[in-house]
Amino acid sequence: MRKTLKTISLILFSALFLIGVADNADAKRKKKKIPKKPKYVGAAKCNGSCHDPYYQAWVNSPHGKTFDILKPGERADAKKKAKLDPEKDYTADPQCLRCHTTGYRQRGGFKPAGSKNKKGKDTSTKIDPEEPSKEQVGCEMCHSAAGGGQFRVVMKNTKGDFKKAETEKYGQRWDYENVCTRCHNHPKSPHGDGKLDYAKAVATVHPTEKYFNEDNADQNIVKDGKVKDRAKEKAKSEEKDLRIEDWKFKKGKLKFAKGTRPYSSKKKKFYYKK
Ligand code: HEC
Ligand code: HEC
Ligand code: HEC
Repeated sequence: MRKTLKTISLILFSALFLIGVADNADAKRKKKKIPKKPKYVGAAKCNGSCHDPYYQAWVNSPHGKTFDILKPGERADAKKKAKLDPEKDYTADPQCLRCHTTGYRQRGGFKPAGSKNKKGKDTSTKIDPEEPSKEQVGCEMCHSAAGGGQFRVVMKNTKGDFKKAETEKYGQRWDYENVCTRCHNHPKSPHGDGKLDYAKAVATVHPTEKYFNEDNADQNIVKDGKVKDRAKEKAKSEEKDLRIEDWKFKKGKLKFAKGTRPYSSKKKKFYYKK
């Protein structure tokens, strides 16, 4: 009798132990490794289980269509006003892509039609008209300094419950008002210097209210106080504005000007405006 009891408890114990190990392994498997280098991944990656109200609001905002207006015939009057040719196709023009697409000339960023690697293989970004992504001005152009590939994993691993400083380490930026000047009123803009009224403009960036529903209610940042309201936290990039990239063209290729990058992924360090 005693022996049977012993065997039973041994079996039970081993079973529990095995379940424990499996659980642990599961937890480990779920935590993804943070990629070594930042890179642009495209807005479509933020859609789905994490930020779909933001994605939908963005698709229907001006920034969800910035590539499309480079096509011939689109916004003819505005192009004439900016001394651009309304009949020309600007969708592969380096003069336009930095401000009209995501991560152009940076790791993982948009590559226009006709892009090839050294072996002659087509490396251009695949465009899916049903799911706007890198070809438009996506999330990462406002939320990151070098692409969101790394901090996306931090957000996932913490299920959204992270401190600003944790994602900032990987180049997520929080100097929202300053970030608009990466494109709006930038010295390299062909559109003159119409001033952006930030307070008014920000309301059009991703008005999420009407895109929240039963299925995605759990994605609300401050719902029921479950996830902290980050507005009360102050990140380093909010204390001082980050530098804004400038660029020039060499043999028709856009090159970022030295001393203007806002972030070094090697040093994991921000550079601020003087
Ligand atoms: C420095 C950034 C920058 C560059 C470079 C740039 N754009 Fe723009 N573009 C913008 C911004 C910002 C807007 C939004 C409103 C504005 O400032 O006029 C815009 C708006 C537009 C519009 C819509 C204007 C309207 O009033 O409807 C067109 C068309 C356009 N750009 C075409 C181009 C083309 C073609 C090129 C390349 C020859 C180009 N842009 C280069 C930043 C840029
Ligand atoms: C044109 C710039 C711009 C683009 C593009 C943009 N955002 Fe934002 N985002 C902002 C600004 C500015 C704020 C802060 C003000 C606000 O909440 O409206 C913000 C706030 C947020 C917040 C709340 C962050 C917090 O913790 O307080 C989330 C989440 C977010 N954006 C997700 C996205 C996603 C996902 C996309 C792409 C589908 C996107 N954003 C595209 C500018 C942008
Ligand atoms: C990477 C470049 C880029 C950044 C960064 C950017 N924008 Fe834009 N924005 C554009 C382009 C290109 C358009 C033109 C879209 C169109 O006319 O359809 C535009 C259009 C707009 C428009 C509508 C046209 C207008 O001029 O009123 C608003 C509003 C706007 N942006 C607000 C913002 C705000 C607020 C920020 C910062 C939080 C911001 N943008 C950051 C490129 C950018």
